[in-house]
Amino acid sequence: MIDIQKSPNSKLSQTNFDNLVFGQVFSDHMMECDYKDGAWQNPVIKPYGPITLQPSARVFHYGQAVFEGMKAYKDKEDKIWLFRPDQNFERINKSSERLAIPEFPKDYFFNALEELLKLDKDWIKQGFGNSLYIRPFVIASEAGVSASAAKEYKFMIICSPAQAYYSGEVRVKFSEKFSRAADGGVGYAKAAGNYGAQFYPTNLAKEEGFQQIIWTDANSHEYLEEAGTMNIFFRIGDKLVTAPTNDRILDGVTRKSVLTLAEEFNIDTEVRRVSVKEIVEAAEKGELKEMFGSGTATVINPIVGFGYKGKKYELPKMEDSYAKFFKDKLMKIQYNEAEDKFGWRYEVK
Ligand code: COI
Repeated sequence: MIDIQKSPNSKLSQTNFDNLVFGQVFSDHMMECDYKDGAWQNPVIKPYGPITLQPSARVFHYGQAVFEGMKAYKDKEDKIWLFRPDQNFERINKSSERLAIPEFPKDYFFNALEELLKLDKDWIKQGFGNSLYIRPFVIASEAGVSASAAKEYKFMIICSPAQAYYSGEVRVKFSEKFSRAADGGVGYAKAAGNYGAQFYPTNLAKEEGFQQIIWTDANSHEYLEEAGTMNIFFRIGDKLVTAPTNDRILDGVTRKSVLTLAEEFNIDTEVRRVSVKEIVEAAEKGELKEMFGSGTATVINPIVGFGYKGKKYELPKMEDSYAKFFKDKLMKIQYNEAEDKFGWRYEVK
């Protein structure tokens, strides 16, 4: 049973949906579910607002926290859709397992998410590019600074109306020194700390005019892995190339959907290690036609240039870009405007 406490007033009328900065505004309600005495308690949907935790709560000291990113879309008939939510559900539990957080039950997740979306349905606007970004997350809420897995947690879902993630052109720096993840580590999990650890090197890259870093393997820095908020694709000639997922790389839902679409549309694809050397050489020879990132927040984001060892490379402007092709195909499925061949859509009703 979900306990639903409706907000007495809505922030909808104060929200400008035409000018949204990613992740700044939150809808009227949120979901909160506590884990204690060895079990997840009843989920509660309540007005979005602050939560109270002890300063000693484990999450503040040891970063025992994981999260997900999903989106809800509205079609022209006001029907609400999710895109492959089963994947996010499975992944949050995979992340949780790695961080020693107890598994969250599937029926709790879907029931609470659907109730929350129905309550906040007016926060989802029609139109390509408009969505409600959904952020499920789990934090170790137990008080006490002993360095061990907590016995109490909070699973929460908050929602934020969204448009584009990046507001301008995206240029990336290939990492030469810093690493995002290591073999045997938590790179594949959506662990909060994976993201926090990127802020400092990303700030340094920003000072040089880049928006993101493409992380290279921690051992040799010779192979390109992922961008941290996106998985990464290269188009060399007409071949689509991306790194395989492993211990260090997030198994992105958009990434795997792009690979399925590439197969459907007979786009020559290679999933293999991609070396920095190969990409630099392809760029120098004019064979690197495109780079783009894929992710829930960004969908498909073209990358217009990259930097490596102090040199900057600009990519050609493509008329028939793969980035545009995949974005269009994905969005048509997400917004219920194309056939859903692979059963990716999930209606909230
Ligand atoms: C997403 O695409 O949903 C992500 O989780 C990336 C995020 C850090 C903005």
